[in-house]
Amino acid sequence: MEAAKAFHAALPAVAAFQPWPDDITWADREAHQIPAAPLVQSDPGFAAESIPAEAQVRALQQAVMALAPHAEWRLTYTEEEVGRDFLQRFGWFELVGPTGHFHSAQSRMTIGYWGPGLDYPWHQHGPEELYTILSGSADFMARGEEVRRLVPGDTKMHGADQPHAMITNEHPILCFVFWRGDGLADDPAMSPG
Ligand SMILES: [Fe+2]
Repeated sequence: MEAAKAFHAALPAVAAFQPWPDDITWADREAHQIPAAPLVQSDPGFAAESIPAEAQVRALQQAVMALAPHAEWRLTYTEEEVGRDFLQRFGWFELVGPTGHFHSAQSRMTIGYWGPGLDYPWHQHGPEELYTILSGSADFMARGEEVRRLVPGDTKMHGADQPHAMITNEHPILCFVFWRGDGLADDPAMSPG
């Protein structure tokens, strides 16, 4: 939590997206393991190098790796939506939010992990979103925008209900994702074809 807060303060795009919540309380949530959780420790993706806020990015990446065995990991997509391999090498958990390890009604902050060579299909959600990259790399797509390859320290915003997608190539990716607005407890939905 300290690493997340320091990260939030150190990256201007993150601090500008939303203030750090002032209503955070500890919620006692059981760990839930999924196949991808050990991969966060064994293959987190390349770490930040020579970037602004490198120390804070690396510190949060290390903290996430350390707590991977204790997180309440979720999948929330079906095999029909994303495929069997995706569900073996993807996962996310809610650090802060309406149903997070720390409760807040003001924000939702999740950690997401994707192994190499995964195609995260087009999806969307009501809250606005800011992706930040802790380690590794992926190509991010959003309707109406150019494809962007993100690396540690990069950020990318998605608007309310703006369809977006992502492809990992040779690297995995570990992300810290912020949501703001209404519907923080909702799960993303696949975008209509
Ligand atoms: Fe999203």
